[in-house]
Amino acid sequence: MNQPKILVIGACGQVGTELVENLAERFGSDNVIASDIRDEASFQVKYLKLDVMDRAAVKKAVVDNKITEVYHLAALLSATAEKNPEFGWKLNMDGLFSVLDLAKDGLLKKVFWPSSIAVFGPTTPRNNTPQYTVIEPTTVYGISKFAGERWCQYYHDRYGVDVRSIRYPGLIGWKSLPGGGTTDYAVEIFHEALEHGKYTSFLSADTALPMMYMSDAIKATIEIMQAPSEKIKIRSSYNISAMSFNPDQIAKEIKKHIPNFEIDYNPDFRQDIANNWPASINDDEARLHWNWSSDFNLERLVKEMMDNLKSTIIVPQ
Ligand code: SER
Repeated sequence: MNQPKILVIGACGQVGTELVENLAERFGSDNVIASDIRDEASFQVKYLKLDVMDRAAVKKAVVDNKITEVYHLAALLSATAEKNPEFGWKLNMDGLFSVLDLAKDGLLKKVFWPSSIAVFGPTTPRNNTPQYTVIEPTTVYGISKFAGERWCQYYHDRYGVDVRSIRYPGLIGWKSLPGGGTTDYAVEIFHEALEHGKYTSFLSADTALPMMYMSDAIKATIEIMQAPSEKIKIRSSYNISAMSFNPDQIAKEIKKHIPNFEIDYNPDFRQDIANNWPASINDDEARLHWNWSSDFNLERLVKEMMDNLKSTIIVPQ
């Protein structure tokens, strides 16, 4: 079988760290290259320093390494992009065009690029948000992801580019930390619970958001890329869903493992972002078209996080 030769861009981020490991297991360490803006990083595969906004450098990396597939993950997330909207827009869009144009020119066979629940806005139905609905994002991150989705569909329809995308919800894993998102509280809470027994949430107790355990997100990412092309009928981006909870609900679940755990609330600017996002997502199309289904609910997620973090975090006595 012809193995793909994969380049992961933005490999040092929350998703990239776990995705590289999984891709290497599946396709072999020699067939996966990790890249990011940092000078150095420790991966079990070859690492390249790469600035996705440097088109010539991305092209050279693809050509020199005979890359056939790119997973392009580099982006500023919702909270960070609000602090620097101009750079958020530039990074999120220029990076995507670098990669889509290489595919358009025949240098790549397939592209994965993640979108986000951030594409939805205050005029979107908040519960069980459908695939096709009103989309009026209010953050620069959401605007860039929505624009990116439309460009993916355009490059597919106009130039035949095989690009595949999913709208990630908040992602929670223990192997890596998120950076700059509105859903980051749902990872921080575990670290603070284990290290200090308490957590101050930057979202209010009843702010429900769509969430997913990282292994489900990795599974979705690899499955959509492995699916036969004709099954991918949506070339903008697919809704995917696993669970929905608010800070109060996750805190209660954590208390089952740490009975003395305490949470309090001090909402900041991220509350406004979360208020405009869906509480839960309908993913019928992904289920129907490429057989998507999630494995983890809140209870299982919390157990996995606690079991794994307990052995990696040194808990003060
Ligand atoms: N986790 C992301 C964020 O909070 C959503 O895609 O920005």
